[in-house]
Amino acid sequence: FVERALALIKPDAVNKADDIEAIILNHGFSILQKRRVTLTAEQCSDFYSEHYGKKFFPSLVAFMTSGPIVAMVLSKENAIQQWRELIGPTNSTVAKETHPDSIRAFFGSNEQKNAVHGSDSVVSAEREIRFFFPNCIVEPIPVGQ
Ligand code: CMP
Repeated sequence: FVERALALIKPDAVNKADDIEAIILNHGFSILQKRRVTLTAEQCSDFYSEHYGKKFFPSLVAFMTSGPIVAMVLSKENAIQQWRELIGPTNSTVAKETHPDSIRAFFGSNEQKNAVHGSDSVVSAEREIRFFFPNCIVEPIPVGQ
C-alpha cells in the first residue's frame, strides 16, 4: 500500500531540516505537505495526549514548544514502517549504539531531544496527519475516470 505518514522535525533539529529532507527524498519518500509551525503548550499536549500523565510529559511539552518544528506528510509504499526504520529507536543515545545510520543517531542527542517523530501505526498516522493538515486526504486517492 502507498501509505501516508506524519513526520515531525523537532526544535533540536530544525536547523538541519534541509539535510533531513534530503535524506527523506533519497530514501524514496515523497513530501506531500510541509508546514513550519510553533506549537502552543495546549496544541502540543493534545498532539501527545497518549503520553499525558507520564513523568516526562511536562518536559516533553516544554521541549516541543521551545521553537519551530517542521511537520510533513510523507508518502511511500509502507511509509509508516519505512519512516520508523529510517529514524531509528526513540532514544538517540541508544540509536547511536544500535542504529548508527539512523536519523535519530545522526541528529538527536538523548531520549527526549531525538530530532524527529514518526507515527507508530496507521490509526495514529491518520490522527496525526489530520492534526497538522486538516484538509489533507489520508486515504489513497482514486485517479482517472
Ligand atoms: P516521540 O516518538 O515523538 O514520542 C514521544 C516523545 O517523548 C519521544 O519521541 C521523546 O521525544 C519523548 N520521550 C519518550 N520517552 C522519554 C523519556 N523516557 N524521557 C524523556 N522524553 C521521552
